[in-house]
Formats: sequence, C-alpha cells, structure tokens
Amino acid sequence: MKVLVLHGPNLNLLGQREPEVYGTRTLDQINEDIQVLASQLGFEVDFFQSNQEGVLIDRIHRGIGHYQWIILNPGALTHYSYALRDAVAGAGIPTIEVHLSAIQAREEFRSRSVIAPVCLGQISGFGATSYLLALYAIFEESTRGK
Ligand code: DQA
Repeated sequence: MKVLVLHGPNLNLLGQREPEVYGTRTLDQINEDIQVLASQLGFEVDFFQSNQEGVLIDRIHRGIGHYQWIILNPGALTHYSYALRDAVAGAGIPTIEVHLSAIQAREEFRSRSVIAPVCLGQISGFGATSYLLALYAIFEESTRGK
C-alpha cells in the first residue's frame, strides 16, 4: 500500500508559523511521526510539499497508477482551488483531506472547503495528529471486509 502525503502552501513554515494555531512541530518532525506510524501499519509513504498550486497538481498527476491513497493538506488552497479539486477528482486516487487547525472554528472563509466534497473524508483540528488519524482511517478502509 503506497500513500502520498501532500502538504500545500506555507506548511514548510510549521514550527515557526503561528504556533498558537498550528503547534510547534516542524514539517520534518510531523513527517517523521507519519513515517513511524505508516511503517507500523505496513504502508509505504512519500512526502511532498509545495507552495505552488500547479506543482501540487502535477504531483497528483504523476501519482496516478502509483499510489493507492493520498493524504492532502491543501493549506489555503482548500478554500478556493477548483483546479486542485479537479486534480483530486480526476486522479481517482482516494484522498483524505487533513488540517492541523479546526477550520470550521476559525475565520468564516476557512469554514468552506472546495476540495472536501471530492475526498473520502476530512480530518481537522487535532494538530499533527490529524495526519495520524488519516493513516488509521486508511488502515480501516483498506482492511475492511478482509
Ligand atoms: C490549514 C488551514 C488553512 O485554512 C490554512 O490556510 C493553512 C493550514 C491547517 O492545516 O489547519 O495553511 O490547512
């Protein structure tokens, strides 16, 4: 089982970026935690971060036929990127949308995700643990009925 973990704009600044909202763990530390749990669950995992919408879209396209799952934190693209939404829908790779913060409990513009409707589900509000919960969800989904 191969899982692609995609981080969108500004998530490279985790650790120093609004720590009261996003916590103090850096992206590398979060990726390490994801890697540890993924290995325990028997998943292969690749990581990618970009601040550019088109680069994220290209990465999804390259993942077709390669990954069985995507865990996606689209950052602010969550709220307006129809292009990223179309990439997720078009790739046909089951995707879980993840957020560190509780987007529904923040500014109004954050409460809407244009990407969640084409995802299997959305996990938000648990800090870096949101990513780990997504891995557990994949584990449950992929072992269901076996
Ligand atoms: C975020 C929430 C977004 O609204 C914000 O633009 C981000 C991070 C989160 O993980 O909580 O960049 O996706």
